[in-house]
Amino acid sequence: MPAPVTARPAGLRPRLLNVNPTDQVLEIGYGPGVAISALVRAGAGHVYGVDHSAVMRRQAAKRNRDAIRADRVTLVEAPVDQLPATLDGPFDAILAVDSLGLWPDAAEQLAALRTRLASGGRIAIVSQLRTEILPLNPPVVCVLGS
Ligand SMILES: C[S@@+](CC[C@H](N)C(=O)[O-])C[C@H]1O[C@@H](n2cnc3c(N)ncnc32)[C@H](O)[C@@H]1O
Repeated sequence: MPAPVTARPAGLRPRLLNVNPTDQVLEIGYGPGVAISALVRAGAGHVYGVDHSAVMRRQAAKRNRDAIRADRVTLVEAPVDQLPATLDGPFDAILAVDSLGLWPDAAEQLAALRTRLASGGRIAIVSQLRTEILPLNPPVVCVLGS
């Protein structure tokens, strides 16, 4: 069984990502492209990213400019529930860092992503705990996580 893809949201630890030079990797909700950059440094063959935000695409493109030029990174702007055919895969690893909680019908998207996995491929979902203070009297602190 292949080793799992693991990552930490803050400053992902590339040595734990277990990617190799033949791996095709997809990140959903890449944001400013920090994990994409870590995956490239960790030696992934090609990293595809999809995010529905044009602002995030610009930031991620800037951060990963050299890898895009070297044809090791492809950034796509699209919502997770409308992935273009260029992201049909198959992917050896699919990663989502702090984005699954924002997807419409996450279970349905995960099932669709599973069909894009190569044989033996793996999906890693990373979510940080976060806190929110509800403006009640007295204030209520919620700790959210999964
Ligand atoms: C909290 S940010 C995390 C960004 C990045 N993964 C990180 O850890 O730095 C969530 C990202 O998911 C993206 N996102 C949220 N809902 C999405 C959807 N339905 N389809 C595609 N991307 C989505 C947002 O645009 C945002 O860039």
